[in-house]
Parts: sequence; C-alpha cells; structure tokens
Amino acid sequence: MNKELVILGIESSCDDTAAAILRGSKVLSNIIANQTIHGEYGGVVPELASRAHQKNIIPVIDKAIKTAKIKKKDIDLIAYTKGPGLLGSLLVGSSFAKSLSLALDVPLVSINHMKAHILSHFIDHEDQRKPEFPFLCLTVSGGHTQIVIVRNFDNMEIIGTTLDDAAGEAFDKSAKVLGLKYPGGPLIDKFAKMGDINAFTFGKPKIKDLNFSFSGLKTSIMNKINSSLMNDPEFINSNLNDLCASIQYSIVTILLDKIKQAINITKIKNIAIAGGVSANSYLRKELISLSTKENLNIYIPKFEFCTDNAAMIAISGKYKYLNNEIADYSESANARLSF
Ligand code: KG4
Ligand code: ZN
Repeated sequence: MNKELVILGIESSCDDTAAAILRGSKVLSNIIANQTIHGEYGGVVPELASRAHQKNIIPVIDKAIKTAKIKKKDIDLIAYTKGPGLLGSLLVGSSFAKSLSLALDVPLVSINHMKAHILSHFIDHEDQRKPEFPFLCLTVSGGHTQIVIVRNFDNMEIIGTTLDDAAGEAFDKSAKVLGLKYPGGPLIDKFAKMGDINAFTFGKPKIKDLNFSFSGLKTSIMNKINSSLMNDPEFINSNLNDLCASIQYSIVTILLDKIKQAINITKIKNIAIAGGVSANSYLRKELISLSTKENLNIYIPKFEFCTDNAAMIAISGKYKYLNNEIADYSESANARLSF
C-alpha cells in the first residue's frame, strides 16, 4: 500500500494566517490566527495584515506541526496560496513556503485560493458526502462571488461573477452602516435570527445573465437608514434585528435566484456552496429547502472549512501534486491570480 502524503498547507491571502497538516485527505491539524486588529477600522488594512502575518506565520506553522503530532521531517509536500488576495499578505506565506520547501527538500505546489474554497469539499471527515462531478459551486467570500461549473479537480469554469461588490462585502458594508464591527457578516447572521425578514424591503438588481450585483442594494440600504435616522436617531438601535434579517434576506435571495437560474441553464443538480458566506445560517437553511423542492443534491461544507483555512490549501495541494503540477521557486505571488 502506498504511504499517504503528509501535506503542510499555508494560507495568508487576506487577514487570517493559517496552517494545516493533512495525511492524505484527513486533517491532523487546522490552525488559524485571526487578526482582530481590523475590527476597529471597519475592514482589512493591507499593511497591518502583512505585519500580522509576519508575526504569526512561524508560531502558527509550529502549532500546526505540534498539534498534528508529527515532526518537520515527516512533511512530504508543501502547498501555499499564490493568489488572489492582498499582495503583501500573499508574499509572507509564499516566501515562507518556498524557503521551507528548499530547507526540507520537499516539493512545493502553488494554489488558487478560490479553487481551494471549492476543493474544501474533498477534505475527509465524518458524515461528509463528497460532491459528484459535475457540480455547480456558489463560491461566496469577502472578495468574490462566483458560480462555477466544477467538472473535475482541475477543470472549473466560472459562469457567473459579481460586477461590483462581493456577497461578503455586501454583508460587511451593510454591517458597517449599522455600526457593527468588521467582519459584519457573522453579526448580521446572529441578529437576523431574532428579526423579521419582511420588516424592510430593499432594491433588487435587474441583471439578466448569471452575473451578480450588490451595489444597488447597498445604496438602497444606506438611503433607507440615513433617511430614517433623520426622523429617529434611535432608528438602528430599535430596529437592529429586523434590519439584519431584511438585509440578509435580500442578499441571500439574490444568491439563490442566480443559483436557480444556473440550474435551469446547465441542468446540473449537484449543488455546492463554499467560502466565508457559506457559513451563513439563512443561506444554508434556504438551500436545504430548495433542494427538497427541486430534488437537488446539496453539499454544504463544515463551518471550519467555510471561512479561510489552510486545510483547503493542503487538500488542493494533494490533487495538484497527483497531477504533477509542481511549483517553480521563481513563481511569484499574484494578487489578481485568475482561474
Ligand atoms: O472566505 P472568507 O473567510 O475570506 C475571503 O476569502 O474573503 O470570507 C470572509 C467573508 C466576510 O465578508 C464575512 O463577513 C463573511 O465571509 N462571513 C459571513 C458569515 N461568516 C463569514 N457572512 C454572512 N454570514 C456568516 N455567518
Ligand atoms: Zn477565502
């Protein structure tokens, strides 16, 4: 029997420094250092993010190795995020990954962060059904919103994307208007549970194809809040739960309408979600009810693999390595890395 590869994954594309060890497809450790510093600025400050990665990267990798109960010499492969993301952040992870690969004399693979969110579905864990090819993946994060046809591990096609803000940005910017800390998505999710989705209505985009737009919704939310605050300075405080529920309903409805449209066009009935916004409880609930109505096979990732993590980078590394796609040491991080 072939020995299972021990893979170190390194993720540093935005504001989380993450390292994971996988044996084959099984997670031995999955360590994430969140950067709380950005909370008070209402969004990620690139320079602060790079500095925090610089501080965190070695302790996080060291902890991943110790938690996995392996030694550095047991690592067979290193996978790192090449892009897309913030250049300064990516450079910290990529430089460290290259140096460690050279020092340990093990192969290196470079990973596209957005593809890795999708491949997080192939990490082994209890009660996890892996998607069958081909499947549609709605990848929704702080920087991207995409509908992707996934035909194989290395054959993916984007059929819809956002023309302006990403779904996560729509959550975070709305939260900022409500005076909530960054990242606001999880907070909107929390307060929405106690609110009424029909309390307020906001503008809907009128885009006919599979692309998304959230900027009109953002303007509609800001107009509603600003005009209401003029009459009642306590408007947000007295309506926070209802505002969160109505905003969340609007964002999730935009996402679900496009998924339904993509299912009609492609006739693909295997549907996955991925990325930070796939942690949203209302999106998960609505998708499950859609699957019953439309007879779909739905694949929802475990919470810890929705937001940025390095286990998804390591699993992607496994498939790239099996496909002989070894990275060159002269490869550079790429903030705008395309599919
Ligand atoms: O994938 P991710 O961790 O990082 C990027 O690659 O961008 O996604 C982060 C995004 C943030 O915008 C955050 O507000 C959003 O995911 N998010 C959520 C929830 N958890 C995280 N949005 C709505 N509901 C949630 N429960
Ligand atoms: Zn991400």
